[in-house]
Amino acid sequence: MNERVRIFDTTLRDGEQSPGVALTIQEKVAIAHQLERLQVDVIEAGFPVSSAGDFEAVRQVASEIETCQVAALARCEEHDIETAARALEPAHNARIHVFIATSEVHMRAKLKLSPEAVLQRIADAVRQARSYREDVEFSAEDATRSDPQFLLDAAMAAYEAGARTLNFPDTVGYAMSDEYARLIGFLRESIPADAILSVHCHDDLGLAVANSLAGVKAGARQVEVAVNGIGERAGNAALEEVAVSLSARADHWKLTHGLNLGEIYRTSRLVSQCTGMIVQANKAIVGDNAFRHESGIHQDGMLKDPTTYEFLDAVSLGQGSRLVLGKHSGRHALRERLEHLGLSYTADDLRHMQRRIKSAAEGKRGIDDGELMSIWQEMKMTA
Ligand code: KIV
Ligand code: ZN
Repeated sequence: MNERVRIFDTTLRDGEQSPGVALTIQEKVAIAHQLERLQVDVIEAGFPVSSAGDFEAVRQVASEIETCQVAALARCEEHDIETAARALEPAHNARIHVFIATSEVHMRAKLKLSPEAVLQRIADAVRQARSYREDVEFSAEDATRSDPQFLLDAAMAAYEAGARTLNFPDTVGYAMSDEYARLIGFLRESIPADAILSVHCHDDLGLAVANSLAGVKAGARQVEVAVNGIGERAGNAALEEVAVSLSARADHWKLTHGLNLGEIYRTSRLVSQCTGMIVQANKAIVGDNAFRHESGIHQDGMLKDPTTYEFLDAVSLGQGSRLVLGKHSGRHALRERLEHLGLSYTADDLRHMQRRIKSAAEGKRGIDDGELMSIWQEMKMTA
């Protein structure tokens, strides 16, 4: 049996930390319900101590979500953990997620704590969180810029106090994929097998998805992601890219996940609509152009056998494949589109329409069905 990778969605917590994004409680609840339909394993609903609104949103999500685990974030501080536990009270299945930084610069400049004091905080925090909930996750913030031996000591302090998910964030998006894989591999060899190792990567160098997958290759079995890759600065690893990579190349991974990929596109649209963050047209999996083919050679291939230029099934990911008529389109695609719309044509019409389409498409993204029909009608009226 293939091993399963858990998908931990942090759209409502790290994703909402995107500059300029502020979700209402209703929007958070609507996104949480959509994440439930998508069947993520864990929904990180927020950071309850950060504001009254965040507390209420976590509480509301915790009371409405039934089939996913709901997590809340807390620093390794008594009041944070107690507040997170209170916000999670209505949840059927809850996780308290505690974190503290383990890199030299964060411990010295930000926390002003010695490494020994950080280890003590971890043990105390995990024990306190375990007094409220069975399931506790520990994150070592800035793990990739931490001393690996100290990182292991921090992870073991959390493990011994009862945390069974240990997360190693690339908080500032600094790691190269091979370095991250080596770090996760070292931790996997040293930490008892009943702990799930987790990866959480930021996209400052555009490597968040690649680094997350490198971590999975090295033994991580939870990936922390956000829909459309939103999050602090350049964002988090994109949920849709990680999940579809694991599925589409299952031959390579030999791993499973529990997502219902047919809900991917709807989830992306809802998050974009609520956050106001537009999904770029060429974004993998969910972008408007992800399954569009414009050049004549590609369109011809697609009409003969869609697998010539598409190995992903757009329909099973919630969006259909679309041929766009543009200045590079060929006659095959035009014919297919006219037949699809039930419009008659002669060989001369095709030549004429192709010239019109090329000039109309100059400087535009492509000609849609409405524009094509106008061109056809105009041509027939002047014939
Ligand atoms: O990037 C990070 O380090 C985080 C932790 C709080 C998990 O978001
Ligand atoms: Zn993060």
